Amino acid sequence: MVAYDFDEQIDRIGTACFKYDGRGHVFQNPDVLPLWVADMDFATPSFIIERIRKRCQHPVLGYTFRDDEYHAAIRWWYAQRHGWSIDTGWIDFCPGVVSGLNHAIRAYTQPGDAIIIQPPVYHPFFSTVENNGRKLVLNPLRNNGEGYYTMDLQHLETLAQQGAKMLIISSPHNPVGRVWTRDELLALGGICQRYGLIVVSDEIHSDLVFAGHKHIPMASLSDDLAQRTITFASASKTFNIAGLSSGFAIIPNKELRLRYQRELEASGAGMGNLFGIEAVKAAFSPQGEAWLGELLRYLAGNIDFVERFVAERLPQLRFRRPGGTYLLWLDFGSLGITDKQLNELLQQSAGVGFNAGSGFGVEGHCFQRINVACPQSTVREALERVAAALEVR
Ligand SMILES: Cc1ncc(COP(=O)(O)O)c(C=O)c1O
Repeated sequence: MVAYDFDEQIDRIGTACFKYDGRGHVFQNPDVLPLWVADMDFATPSFIIERIRKRCQHPVLGYTFRDDEYHAAIRWWYAQRHGWSIDTGWIDFCPGVVSGLNHAIRAYTQPGDAIIIQPPVYHPFFSTVENNGRKLVLNPLRNNGEGYYTMDLQHLETLAQQGAKMLIISSPHNPVGRVWTRDELLALGGICQRYGLIVVSDEIHSDLVFAGHKHIPMASLSDDLAQRTITFASASKTFNIAGLSSGFAIIPNKELRLRYQRELEASGAGMGNLFGIEAVKAAFSPQGEAWLGELLRYLAGNIDFVERFVAERLPQLRFRRPGGTYLLWLDFGSLGITDKQLNELLQQSAGVGFNAGSGFGVEGHCFQRINVACPQSTVREALERVAAALEVR
């Protein structure tokens, strides 16, 4: 029995919603069908909304703190979903994962220090390093030509030898959708261990993993990796609550935790959001697990749909289904046009708003990232528009 209606079209216009109301700022055409920024067009689950509504029945919305129930919910979720037994004392706050990355960079490195990222990757990885005056060092992923990406461990080792201080990974990886395997993470971790790198593991997409794949928290792999890894995560992607600005860090190493806390205090960002705390308690629960199961089934159906559509109607494109995330990475390279022409074609002629691949590094040249966390009718409409625009090109 399907208890949630993921097919429902919800009008988000006029709710100061970035994905829809922000189109005028982001695209040349403010009316594009938006399948870009990574939130979902599905209703936030009712048990989260109810929890927030219940809290609103109390008339005072004053200062708050993260209580035992909050920590217990995260601990339960990690044991249940990811097989990682965490100590509640390891959990710390971040207003969002991106702000957490900024805090970690400042806590563990000095201006000028080299920090490695693996493009194509979520664009704030570039800006957080550069905005903090650290040196950005790139270890591009390798595409086997068919859209399957792996990490270049040999090059990583060279960069580590040259004195990099930190590695930031996206696990699962936005935008290529890889769910890194145990062996890959162990090999990566081995390099970090040999050369003393701190690992910042952005695991915000860790719950959005499809059948046949398994998310493995980097820090769960060994004692050494637990001691050198800072994990960032959030209920925001999984349960569509990004607007509540509430993420968390898991830092088993006491000294690293204290350094992180000092940065958080220095920026005054440690209080947290009352509704975000309530939402996490409702989300990381058996009810949340049941909802997530249905969500993943629906998302897998949308990805099946894209796979079929591309094979039948858009054979010029290359697409490999992701192991995780609701973000698809489509290769338009065979069209033989520039990024600018591709963006114009999609935004002006087709009327669709995707994320231009070039925003994820030069490796994203002539790719587009498509967010399929929306009713399948929206995905179909977007792809029909692309097919029609390519036909008359
Ligand atoms: C890999 C990754 N990290 C972080 C974020 C954003 O996190 P937050 O909104 O908590 O800053 C996103 C959002 O798309 C993401 O894909």
